[in-house]
Amino acid sequence: MDLDIPELLQHVLIDLVQMQEFEQHPLVLARGDGARVWDVDGREYLDALSGVFVVNVGHGNRRVIEAMTRQLERLTFAAPTTATSDRMLELGGELTQLTPPELDVVKFQNGGSEAIEAAIKIARQYHRQTGAPDKFKVVSRHRSYHGATMGALAATGFAAFRAPFEPLPAGYVRVPPSSVDAIEAAIIEEGPDTVAVVILEPIMNMAGVRIPEPGYLEGVREICDRHDVLLAYDEIVTGFGRVGSWFAAEHFGVWPDLLCFGKGVTSGYSPLSGVVMTRRIADAFRGERKAMRHLMHGITYGGNPLSCAAGLAVIEEIKGRDLLQNAKEMGERLMAGLNDLMKDHPAITDVRGLGLLVAVDFSLPSEDLERLTEKIRELPMICIPPGPSGTMRFAPPIVIGAEDIDGILELTERGLVEARV
Ligand SMILES: Cc1ncc(COP(=O)(O)O)c(C=O)c1O
Repeated sequence: MDLDIPELLQHVLIDLVQMQEFEQHPLVLARGDGARVWDVDGREYLDALSGVFVVNVGHGNRRVIEAMTRQLERLTFAAPTTATSDRMLELGGELTQLTPPELDVVKFQNGGSEAIEAAIKIARQYHRQTGAPDKFKVVSRHRSYHGATMGALAATGFAAFRAPFEPLPAGYVRVPPSSVDAIEAAIIEEGPDTVAVVILEPIMNMAGVRIPEPGYLEGVREICDRHDVLLAYDEIVTGFGRVGSWFAAEHFGVWPDLLCFGKGVTSGYSPLSGVVMTRRIADAFRGERKAMRHLMHGITYGGNPLSCAAGLAVIEEIKGRDLLQNAKEMGERLMAGLNDLMKDHPAITDVRGLGLLVAVDFSLPSEDLERLTEKIRELPMICIPPGPSGTMRFAPPIVIGAEDIDGILELTERGLVEARV
């Protein structure tokens, strides 16, 4: 079927792109397999970004496709508010095996932003029902991204994302990202009796893959406990094998009270996200029906059986193929290759990452950086080009093999050579 793409592009808006520019060189994908995708003209690209930190188990994954096909034939929707499904229960059981025993109850949603919204609402209602009704404020960090919906956006630490939508909900406080003291100072200044939750990405993704300093997460955990403030992690990018463990929390050995996941949980085969909470929090929502203590938050498609079937297959795939180990090994190969590139290309000033979440910094005059960004955009590779920040990011599917990692390295070098930097 021949599509009139220029005409059809007039009828849609694509996330966070300037359509006027996109229309000049539209990337319209039609097919995928593993770490490769093809556009409508049959041109092949290396997907060095898993779509956008999503397709962890790769495109065209047979296990997920077959599990979803089976589920399509059985049941695709179970009525929330009156029922649930066998698949949702099964996935809840599996997920809570991936977290420590105290993180034991899941509330499913559809997308990352919804998971953040849910975490904030859970924190507020929890405090209200456990004798601290004035605890409603949310502390988050500058340069964090938490989502597009109003509550998640208010927690987001990039002014440019927030500005067009002011005024945002009240009760949000943002602090510098790397200082434990800044978090405690904000809690004290606001009044500990008013703060519900601290929310953070354990590895800041959009800020350029920032790994926390040793002791940082322990420090935040201790402050939250001392002031009876819940700690929520946004693991929407870092979950499901991305950093070589099920969650970044596991890698750092510091767990939150509310763990938000999304993206990789179904690897993009169907929308799903959620919040894993501690038993203590979940218990606050138990009681007689008339007491109205149940979580006052519903979302129609959240945890639908089709998405849960996909989630179960993704977990099986990660376990069955030891993809956590693969993410570690391939991440090391990618970082070693980028470090080698740094020796020949002084424009590269830093390489950092964990597992298959990797960033490279370029220090270049703005004209050279612009040229490099353009050359990288033209490559048959999906990644986040450096742009004005000078940081390029990679997050290929965790099923990727050595050959495709080497392909990413070759293409990156080609971009540097063509940009003459
Ligand atoms: C760290 C982080 N949190 C939250 C979100 C929001 O997720 P979604 O776009 O699925 O709503 C994103 C999306 O990129 C993200 O990267």
